Order: sequence, then structure tokens, then C-alpha cells
Amino acid sequence: MRQVLVLNGPNLGRLGSREPEVYGSASFADLAAECRSVGEKLGLRVEVRQTDDESELVGWVHEAADGRIPVVLNPAAFTHYSYALRDALAMRTAPLIEVHISNPAARESFRHTSVVAAVADGTIAGFGLLSYRLALEAIAELTAPTASAAPPASAAPPASAAPPASAAPPASIAPPASAAPPASIAPPASAAPPVSAAPPSP
Ligand code: DQA
Repeated sequence: MRQVLVLNGPNLGRLGSREPEVYGSASFADLAAECRSVGEKLGLRVEVRQTDDESELVGWVHEAADGRIPVVLNPAAFTHYSYALRDALAMRTAPLIEVHISNPAARESFRHTSVVAAVADGTIAGFGLLSYRLALEAIAELTAPTASAAPPASAAPPASAAPPASAAPPASIAPPASAAPPASIAPPASAAPPVSAAPPSP
């Protein structure tokens, strides 16, 4: 079963009591249980972690890069200023989805910048815990073996000629009119295919 790390930054361990009008009433334990259950249905072995420590988070990102492990990441406040985290993520070797419970674009201006977004495959924000579910679905899709990943030897095109279907940017998803502030799913700037999704060379 494919392993996925769901990594969470500072103050997310306080979910449930932390600004419930912004982040909802679910606790971090609820979030972790939801991610594991969604993962099970998708055939993913999901491990959920949280830290308030930038150095520990960077260490987990290194671990993911070394193990070619896909990551769903809520960098929390590190989103907006941690170049150390951004540089660690730039070394990734598997898909990376940035998630947010709230919609930072609809909040204070300092939250409008993500230093992480440009090195992620995409960003899902504003859907509460659903942001994590959608991100895990994206990871399942991006890491699924596709027809183009294993063409018959005789019909195999050169590796560089046929990017996998998963290289296409994710479609946008409109938020419900009545729910929390508008959310967005942004495609990556480059739409580069994730390393793990590349077809093997013939
Ligand atoms: C957050 C948004 C960030 O701006 C904030 O610092 C967080 C949580 C979210 O999930 O909505 O801690 O990442």
C-alpha cells in the first residue's frame, strides 16, 4: 500500500479550540482520523503528523524526499514566510499538495502570499477538513499507475514524448455559495509531472 505523509505546521494541534469560527470545531484527532479513513478507502497508508517546530517539519520533508513519499502539507503560518521549508520542499521526489482549512486569500493580506505554492503540484484551500480529503484524492490520482505509465514494449513512445495524463493541471472546484469564504484549487505554475508519475523509459 502506498504511504502518504499528511504534515501539519504550527498551531494545528490546537484545532477544535483554536478560533473555531475560522477553523471549525473538529479537533486535530478528528482530522487525523478522517485522513486515515479516507486514505484506507483510496488504498493509501496515511500517516498524519503535526509540529510547531520548523526544524522538525523540514526534517519530515527530507524524510519524504529520501523515501519518495507523497505529501499533503498544511504548512500553517510557515506558508507565508518559511523559505527553509520552501527550499526543503523543492527537493521533493513525489507529489506534493498544499492544503489549508481556511481560505487564506480571503483573510489578512499577510496570508495572501504562499512561499510554498510554487513548489507544490497544487493548492486546495477553504474547504475545512474536506481540503484534506480532496488532497488525498489528488495524491491517489497522481500516483495511480496509468495506461501511459506501462505501454507495451513495441508501442512505447520515448519517455519525453508523452507526459502522463496526470500532468494536466487539476480542474477548478467552485466552493458552495453558502459555505466559508471562497476557496481555490490552483494548478502548479509549471504543471511539471510529478517524479513518481513519470513513465519508465522503454
Ligand atoms: C492555515 C492558514 C494559515 O494562514 C494559518 O497561519 C494557519 C492555518 C489554514 O489551514 O487555514 O495556521 O494554514
